[in-house]
Amino acid sequence: MIRFNAPGITARYLYTMKTLAKSWQLDSWFSTDERLHSLYPASVQQLAGKHWTPLNIARMAVQFLVPGEGARVLDIGSGVGKFCLSGAYFKPHASFHGIEQRKELAGYAEMARNTLGLFNVSFSHGNFTQLNLRHYDHIYFFNSFYENLVGTDKIDDTIQYSPALFNYYNRYLYKQLDQMPAGTRVVTFHSLSEEMPPCYEMVQIEVEDSLKFYIKI
Ligand SMILES: C[S@@+](CC[C@H](N)C(=O)[O-])C[C@H]1O[C@@H](n2cnc3c(N)ncnc32)[C@H](O)[C@@H]1O
Repeated sequence: MIRFNAPGITARYLYTMKTLAKSWQLDSWFSTDERLHSLYPASVQQLAGKHWTPLNIARMAVQFLVPGEGARVLDIGSGVGKFCLSGAYFKPHASFHGIEQRKELAGYAEMARNTLGLFNVSFSHGNFTQLNLRHYDHIYFFNSFYENLVGTDKIDDTIQYSPALFNYYNRYLYKQLDQMPAGTRVVTFHSLSEEMPPCYEMVQIEVEDSLKFYIKI
């Protein structure tokens, strides 16, 4: 008969087994994009191809954005949290925060975080212009403002779009990035670099020029 309440080795054994089961479950969620998308409703899954960062891209980005333990990474326009959640999984000793203007998407991100049981990631609902970027060390940016341009794919029709807003956000981000300390790292995905001040050196470029890695000089 197994005595589950036996002291010493049995308790340690049970703890180890529980931890292993948890980490196996986590590995399974991050095994493929499709598996990770199954955390979300069908309407969110359908948007993945165009709007959420693929796992292989997130892995490459966080490899660069987390040069050492304890790095704080911000995702500007975090959608349903796919980049931040992937980062938190790949880099358990770093922390990730996502800011998202659409309340519903920020809610899905938090629900997914809860299901995955990740504690080094958080989300907030709001506009990135409300944040002080200096509270973070490094930044990820998946061309979040492009929806404002005419003829681009939209996530939904819950917000107002305008090219003027595109220019305003890009200029705002440019100024904020300009004020970050030397050594700040930025990864952009599918961006035309309008938001990048010249004081950032592009040190690497991947995936047919769509993934760019910068360090502030
Ligand atoms: C291309 S999606 C990327 C989502 C996520 N970063 C990822 O990689 O999976 C861009 C997101 O940025 C959000 N966004 C756009 N402008 C924003 C702003 N000014 N403040 C906060 N979020 C914004 C959009 O609502 C959208 O969810």
